[in-house]
Amino acid sequence: MFRFKKKEKIEIPLEVPKHIGIIMDGNGRWAKKRMQPRVFGHKAGMEALQEVTIAAKNMGVQVLTVYAFSTENWARPKDEVAALMGLIVEYFNKKIDELDRKGVCIRMLGDLSAVPDLQRETALRAMERTKDNKGLKLNIALNYGGRQEILRAARRLAEKCADGEMRPEQIDEVAFEGELYTAGLPMVDLLIRTSGEERISNFLLYQCAYAEFVFVPEYWPDFTREVFARALETYARRDRRFGKV
Ligand code: IPE
Ligand code: IPE
Ligand code: MG
Repeated sequence: MFRFKKKEKIEIPLEVPKHIGIIMDGNGRWAKKRMQPRVFGHKAGMEALQEVTIAAKNMGVQVLTVYAFSTENWARPKDEVAALMGLIVEYFNKKIDELDRKGVCIRMLGDLSAVPDLQRETALRAMERTKDNKGLKLNIALNYGGRQEILRAARRLAEKCADGEMRPEQIDEVAFEGELYTAGLPMVDLLIRTSGEERISNFLLYQCAYAEFVFVPEYWPDFTREVFARALETYARRDRRFGKV
């Protein structure tokens, strides 16, 4: 069992996943339950993200990848998209100092070219500032889609072949993984989705090939480090066989 002895102190007797993916879902429903606008839920979600990031760092997780905005989320009402984009900037402005101090290294996953200038520049600045940090790697998936990521990798390899840089028979898992946004990082061990939904919604399709899935009923803003620790306990009880017996 995880025990939180005092603030940010925990016992970790379990096998901790190297790479955790989180689909941070349920902000809108959390707000609705409180008769507040959806953006209120997104704001609260930002605080949950900070708490879980610090907890992951303290537990010795190597990589945490969170789904902030999908390629499909552009289809939401204009004002919600604008509010979410605004929150990205607010998130970096408010949280970057603490993340940097704790040694967190930030990487953005997704097609940033389609993200508004201010958001893209803020994100790139955060990446640049934390690039040499040696602690937790925090990947933020923004305008990210798993299918698009796989297509992009295929296209990049096709271009290398067309340019004579490599031959088609040299395309193996190592070469393919090198063209994903997660190049150089381990595959996902544990995928958590909050809010009771049980689907992958175009997140890390390649990297989740052998991930354990843990679905929790809590809406994302209610995802505390205690709920996180419980998800890790569930993971630790799983028997990962990777096709073997
Ligand atoms: C997750 O919460 C945040 C994003 C998708 C950006 P939702 O906004 O999807 O909240 P629900 O699922 O509508 O409750
Ligand atoms: C997935 O949540 C995307 C993010 C959490 C950023 P959605 O709420 O957009 O997914 P669906 O539409 O319920 O599958
Ligand atoms: Mg949702």
